[in-house]
Amino acid sequence: MKKVYKIAIIAGDGIGPEVINEGIKVLNKAAELDGKFEFDFTHFPWGCEYYLEHGIMMPYDGLNQLRSFDAIYLGAVGAPGVPDHISLWDLLLKIRKGFNQYVNLRPITLLEGAPCPLNGLKREQIDMLVIRENSEGEYAGAGDWLYKGQPHEVVLQTGIFSRVGTERIIRYAFEEARKQGRSLTSISKGNALNYSMVFWDQVFEEVAKDYPDVETHSYLVDAAAMFFIKQPWRFEVVVTSNLFGDILTDLGAAIAGGLGLAAGANINPEREYPSMFEPIHGSAPDIAGKGIANPLAAIWSASQMLDFFGHEDWGKRVLHAMEQVMVEGIFLTPDMGGTSNTEQVGAAVTEKVLYNHQSELGTVPNTR
Ligand code: NAI
Ligand code: MG
Repeated sequence: MKKVYKIAIIAGDGIGPEVINEGIKVLNKAAELDGKFEFDFTHFPWGCEYYLEHGIMMPYDGLNQLRSFDAIYLGAVGAPGVPDHISLWDLLLKIRKGFNQYVNLRPITLLEGAPCPLNGLKREQIDMLVIRENSEGEYAGAGDWLYKGQPHEVVLQTGIFSRVGTERIIRYAFEEARKQGRSLTSISKGNALNYSMVFWDQVFEEVAKDYPDVETHSYLVDAAAMFFIKQPWRFEVVVTSNLFGDILTDLGAAIAGGLGLAAGANINPEREYPSMFEPIHGSAPDIAGKGIANPLAAIWSASQMLDFFGHEDWGKRVLHAMEQVMVEGIFLTPDMGGTSNTEQVGAAVTEKVLYNHQSELGTVPNTR
């Protein structure tokens, strides 16, 4: 009996549907070649278009509709005409928070063939996994807007750092570092944020005692931003707060191939709820509808989904196929200096996955 993975697709706005389509093709190809599992996709038309029609980003029972799925595969949400805080808070953050996806995994790895703006770096010198707290911190949404619109208006935006929330993300990161046999770096800002980040540093030191085998480092976020550029090889596994992780991983994306390549997974480690896989980039209204969006970020997040389901072999094969496509440089979208469209790049990756599989089995058709 084949294992069937039920996947909820929220392709979203702008280039979201364009790139997700290519990820679906790659997932289907991996399943077809493996033969022991398959995907059952259900599409949900939620996002800004839905909002403009219904006044809400998703139905009120949206989370209930998603609950029984094995994973969510999301494109991007956001469109001109809908305030960004609405599209973010009423869809993406609702899912991340409602499904307790408190781990955000963002690999910053310079793949073979990926463009890098830093000179003289070897590929293996950019190879980190950023683990971002994804449920509270600076993005907890706690605050108030007093005397709105009046000359003496006051705005409060409160960071929330609970012991449970802080400890579980740090523990997750230590487990990951131990599993990978690599160092763990905590990034915080205890000198200026004299409650939240002093607490964060304290919890990091406490949890570290349970992992004497893991080498640890601790940086202030401003220094870390500099070292991301100057000496990225300092970082292996990284753990940081919601806001710092958000910003640092865009910086990381910039040094490891660009936004068209960066992927992220929102994980509920206990697997009580579906986890969500998505490219880091947004809906790119400036290029939406032109068919030139880079699908590689969405395809990388599909490979993270394969890893999550225990098919790390296929996850690796997909990444390897992406590397081959980038090294050959024949099928690339304009953001990577190429002239191909989204579908051609997706097809190139799918064909590599197929070809490599046939080579492994020794069944490559003789075309001569
Ligand atoms: P963006 O990531 O959509 O675009 C930034 C720049 O990168 C643009 O020039 C765009 O053309 C380019 N770009 C992004 N992805 C690309 C791809 N796959 N291939 C080629 N070029 C790509 O960020 P921006 O412009 O700040 O936001 C646009 C909208 O997306 C906003 O409404 C924002 O709120 C939303 N957004 C949604 C996110 C999500 O759903 N996870 C994340 C970030 C932004
Ligand atoms: Mg971001």
